[in-house]
Amino acid sequence: MAEFKEISPDAPVGAKLLNWVDNRFPASKLYNEHMGEYYAPKNFNFWYVFGSLALLILVIQIVTGIFLTMHYKPDAALAFGSVEYIMRDVPWGWLIRYMHSTGASAFFIVVYLHMFRGLMYGSYRKPRELIWIFGCAIFLALMAEAFMGYLLPWGQMSYWGAQVIVNLFAAIPFIGPDLALLIRGDFVVGDATLNRFFAFHVIAVPLVLLGLVVAHLIALHEVGSNNPDGVEIKAHKDANGNPLDGIPFHPYYTVHDIFAVSVFLMIFTAVIFFAPEAGGYFLEYNNFIPADSLKTPLHIAPVWYFTPFYSMLRAITDEMMYALVACVAAAAAFTILKGRVAAFIKGAIALVALLLVASMMMIDAKFWGVVVMGGAVIILFFLPWLDNSEVKSIRYRPDWHKYLYAVFVINFVVLGYLGIKPPSPINERVSQIGTLFYFGFFFLMPWWSRLGTFKPVPDRVTFAAH
Ligand code: HEM
Repeated sequence: MAEFKEISPDAPVGAKLLNWVDNRFPASKLYNEHMGEYYAPKNFNFWYVFGSLALLILVIQIVTGIFLTMHYKPDAALAFGSVEYIMRDVPWGWLIRYMHSTGASAFFIVVYLHMFRGLMYGSYRKPRELIWIFGCAIFLALMAEAFMGYLLPWGQMSYWGAQVIVNLFAAIPFIGPDLALLIRGDFVVGDATLNRFFAFHVIAVPLVLLGLVVAHLIALHEVGSNNPDGVEIKAHKDANGNPLDGIPFHPYYTVHDIFAVSVFLMIFTAVIFFAPEAGGYFLEYNNFIPADSLKTPLHIAPVWYFTPFYSMLRAITDEMMYALVACVAAAAAFTILKGRVAAFIKGAIALVALLLVASMMMIDAKFWGVVVMGGAVIILFFLPWLDNSEVKSIRYRPDWHKYLYAVFVINFVVLGYLGIKPPSPINERVSQIGTLFYFGFFFLMPWWSRLGTFKPVPDRVTFAAH
């Protein structure tokens, strides 16, 4: 137990109260460790505001979610009507609902930008692997949260979107059909599905999400933030042991973040007040029609933030399986012929490749589509061990690495765009190429990230006062 601290009887009431609390709960200690004396690199740029914005949106989603839950009815016969009731009759209900639905899209925009920052500055590299892994788990939880939330208004898209995605699980060999049944709680998406998705959306997943965010921040504050130069500020400390290139989070970055919050809120409110459906991207038009199990919409597409992954799912056709088999065979042949590993490992690689190719030929392409879609997220977890570049930040990498990152982003956006569009032969072909590029970027990273002429990394961060 920490020593009990006495305070002068003449101290102001506030100081006395704080001392009373501090003797029982580490309030000042926590504040100092995470704010007042948390030294962050002084060269943070615009890309460093998205973590705080993600936190803000998390709070907005939880608070608006609580108020929506007060009026929403998780019952297949009442759900659609209760959302309309919130929109028309509940005082300020329309605002709460639009904040929540716009908040979902804003969350993904901010998180995608936040992840891209990590990719650019190598923020996932040693010693920040766990920050990144917790981040990837947050991303997965966020996808589950958004998917289940989308069923709740019980519109046509809610219903049919859930039907399509849950049916995907049925493609898993042996356990698939039973698993899909377990998820739905019925043979088709129905009241039982709505009830369990509601339970997961309002309590189970948010709890996991909150726990992961806390773990993400504890890991971040344990090792300290990276920065746009990718140099460790802890390597140079002053006489008090504080990093020479660090500045206290409060007030320097609280003010930085307050500015970002103001700009964000201007854009966020503009969307809420003037274009809450965002042309059908944030709230799809079909979702203003009540769910009808007898009328399948002509074109079923998930909300925009899922579409890059949905495109990858649709790209896996029987024809594409030949390309994937060729990739597996080429990768195995290359490792066996060129790899500097023991003979028995080469034998094991050959065996695994053979089994994989055999199952790729035997099991339906639909199943491999699911594997590819899931794999596209899972592969992110391994990024810290895929990147072999000798520097962290993109600033000191060869210029062509920057172009490669630009192509990666364009490819991801194109995949997203194609996922919204109805299927067509040309869309299919482009999304197949896009899928191969996406996976090629990561699978070949151990090789390409080492290539090229790297620029000298400065000893200290670069910073010009402004
Ligand atoms: C609810 C979602 C999330 C919240 C609230 C959140 C919050 C934060 C905050 C407040 C920071 C410190 C400020 C900053 O560097 O921007 C941070 C840093 C970081 N986050 Fe997240 N984050 C979230 C999701 C993610 C995801 C999905 C990833 C990656 C897959 C990720 C990876 C990182 C990394 C690598 C850092 C360290 C960056 C650096 O030091 O350069 N985060 N996060």
